[in-house]
Amino acid sequence: MAKILITGGAGFIGSHIVEACLKAGYEVAVVDDLSSGKRENLPPGVPLYQVDVAAAAAVQQVFELVRPEHMVHQAAQIAVSRSVREPAFDARINVLGLLYVLEAAVRQGVRSLVFASSGGVLYGDVWQPAGEEHPAAPVSPYGIAKLAGEMYLQFFAREYGLRCAALRYGNVYGPRQDPHGEAGVVAIFLQRLLAGEAPVINGDGKYIRDYVYVADVARANLLALEGEWQGFRAYNVGTGLGTDVNELERGLRQALAEALREQNDQDDKMSCEAAGVMVEGDCCSADRDGEIEPDFSPDQNGRRTRGAARAGEMELPAAVYGPARPGDLRSSLLDAGKIAQELGWRPQVTLEDGLRHTAAWFATREHI
Ligand SMILES: NC(=O)c1ccc[n+]([C@@H]2O[C@H](COP(=O)([O-])OP(=O)(O)OC[C@H]3O[C@@H](n4cnc5c(N)ncnc54)[C@H](O)[C@@H]3O)[C@@H](O)[C@H]2O)c1
Repeated sequence: MAKILITGGAGFIGSHIVEACLKAGYEVAVVDDLSSGKRENLPPGVPLYQVDVAAAAAVQQVFELVRPEHMVHQAAQIAVSRSVREPAFDARINVLGLLYVLEAAVRQGVRSLVFASSGGVLYGDVWQPAGEEHPAAPVSPYGIAKLAGEMYLQFFAREYGLRCAALRYGNVYGPRQDPHGEAGVVAIFLQRLLAGEAPVINGDGKYIRDYVYVADVARANLLALEGEWQGFRAYNVGTGLGTDVNELERGLRQALAEALREQNDQDDKMSCEAAGVMVEGDCCSADRDGEIEPDFSPDQNGRRTRGAARAGEMELPAAVYGPARPGDLRSSLLDAGKIAQELGWRPQVTLEDGLRHTAAWFATREHI
């Protein structure tokens, strides 16, 4: 069984890559400093080395212990605004951290490495899906570090024969995304709606993005790991379809209402069963007759069972419009034709289905 080391594996995208690799039969180990990732994002039994990728000696030690044949590098400082305020902090993790991982990978004889890059920050404003040949012109230190990262990959591929791929993601969304960051609008809106707070749309909301579901992104990582080429390749990972924030918010609201209704039905059924009431037919009439006392509080595990169910019956708070965020791109779209042609990757989850899965996941969790 081939061994794979995944940095940032306790984070949002990384944890889905961990799952995909386990399913494909890899032996997986994770490096993560848990600065935003969570141990509970990892399936039981996956070894986690709580190490900062910018600590060279500790990174080297992990490589010596794990002796991986493959690497996926997801660990990063992901806030563009922080990179603007603290470019040296950003470069410490996003450039130096990557270099320590690359050096250790070469010393350990790693065969292939996949790196998380970003289409949006490399291409800037594009109104037609941009191909990989579109000139890269990052404006933030975060984007500059991603471009530098890709160039270092090319150097390591040339100089040491390390087979490398940079995957330029679109806007990734799905279960386990952190709703407290500045990005991840799907997670942020869901968290606010579930807390009974209005989602805030920046500016006029006419900001077009290419939303790609996290399981599709994990599958792209797996295909890139197993590619046959020598040297370096860059691939866009997106859908080529644009959705603005106003449309996204409407889709999410619908997906969440549906998820809460389903949960409500499920909870009613369970209450009826617990109270010995026949579930067939209208078990809600038992509630209305007062035979069953409904409990709308979250349960011991923090699941928003009855509380959320009740919210599902009410109007979810309407979105409000706030000030535009300076520097936000108007449009970002990716052409993923190259990865389709060369690796056979195509997005399998539509935005509608992805939002439904994500809403259902968030609706059953209590968020801090
Ligand atoms: N989410 C997106 O839409 C998107 C888009 C383009 C690119 N990316 C890239 O994808 C990767 C994963 O992003 P994500 O959205 O899952 O974010 P995330 O914050 O959930 O994941 C990053 C992980 O890296 C870990 N980490 C951070 N600094 C570290 C350090 N110094 N040492 C070790 N571990 C560290 C965090 O604890 C976290 O688990 C990042 O490289 C990000 O730049 C994400």
